[in-house]
Amino acid sequence: MEAAQRVHKGLEGVYVLESSLCLIDTEHGKLYYVGYDVEELAEKSSYEEVSYLLLNGRLPRRSEFEAFLTKLRSEMELTPEEKRDVQYAAKRTGPMDALAAFYLFASKDPPQAKDQMEHAIKAVAKAGSVLGNTIRVQRGEEPIESQPELGIAGNLIYLVTSKRPEQYQVEFLDDILILHAEHGVPASTFGAVVTASTLSDVYSSIVTGLMTLKGPLHGGAAEAAYYQFVEIGDPDRVESWLERTLAEKRRVMGFGHRVYKIYDPRAKYVKAMAARAAELAGGRVKTLYEIAVRLEQAAIEKLSSRGLFPNVDFWTPIVYTAIGIPPGYFTAVFAVSRVVGWVAHVLEYWKDNRLIRPLHLYTGPEPGQRYVPIEARG
Ligand code: ACO
Repeated sequence: MEAAQRVHKGLEGVYVLESSLCLIDTEHGKLYYVGYDVEELAEKSSYEEVSYLLLNGRLPRRSEFEAFLTKLRSEMELTPEEKRDVQYAAKRTGPMDALAAFYLFASKDPPQAKDQMEHAIKAVAKAGSVLGNTIRVQRGEEPIESQPELGIAGNLIYLVTSKRPEQYQVEFLDDILILHAEHGVPASTFGAVVTASTLSDVYSSIVTGLMTLKGPLHGGAAEAAYYQFVEIGDPDRVESWLERTLAEKRRVMGFGHRVYKIYDPRAKYVKAMAARAAELAGGRVKTLYEIAVRLEQAAIEKLSSRGLFPNVDFWTPIVYTAIGIPPGYFTAVFAVSRVVGWVAHVLEYWKDNRLIRPLHLYTGPEPGQRYVPIEARG
């Protein structure tokens, strides 16, 4: 096989596009959005401001941010028709599918090219309101009005809990949304860009992103990590559980990463949040945290020599639990955050669009097989 004809399975090691949105520094365990350290953004910025940064390639001036916020907030409320769409989908599908159905309905009238930024902002603004109401409907409750002044994070907690959230809960979720907003071209972002490259629309690209994120190899690890902590049940059972798990060649969920072979910078940040969450929420959250701390230590001892460390999904389940997000919805919260990353990539790609159309190496039968009518095939 000639070098040019080599198949790069899983596209591993292949550069598929240029992007100024995010730099993953795997050597030092750092992540930057448009040059800004994501840990500093989580500490000092808001998900809304990070959304502006990703969509526009720079931080806003005050007046620009105020205009952006006004637009974003005006889109956070769902129209009566959108609420009906959410109810319809939430009753028939899982949370990721319900989110996708919402964007599918939104794409029914193909948006004009010049409006794409408008649609991008709308897509980002609606995501949390759709998920919050999806959770309500799936619990047998009615959708309620959004509270845009609470921000995207605060509003999502409000919709899920029907209560004005505590300030610490809003800060936690806002930080988590920032940390999950963008991460280069994982499968879901690549999928979204492939869709966009055909000059399809923003909403259709989000549908592709959502359906690709849904798979357990991509978006589902936080939930698996949660159930793993529940299965362990008590910090004193960690070591025996780990022995058994590794002997059975099962994986420690929330450990390992295709890109990071050292501690995932997002995990480092969320670990500190989980510690605070355990202190503030106590009870079950504290037990989950104590199990996680002990498991982290025991698993690092066994696995770090192979470049396996906690990834962000190891710690987020503890923070989600403190906020009141039920475990079946962790992946969907990740999705709500990542909508802006998908859309930012789509807008960036369109600046110099090229239809994505790779090649395949044919491995089938010799061409020229003789067609035998079905009656004569026996
Ligand atoms: N626990 C135990 N062993 C592991 C783990 C783990 N979590 N992860 C990898 N290994 C082992 C594998 O068994 C394999 O061992 P072997 O060489 O003896 O067969 C070796 O490490 C390499 O594993 P690969 O799957 O080839 O490595 P890859 O880089 O493709 O995997 C992945 C990355 C999929 C994340 C993997 O580490 C994993 O399955 N982790 C658990 C799931 C998880 O936490 N996913 C979240 C990723 S982060 C995110 O999506 C936000």
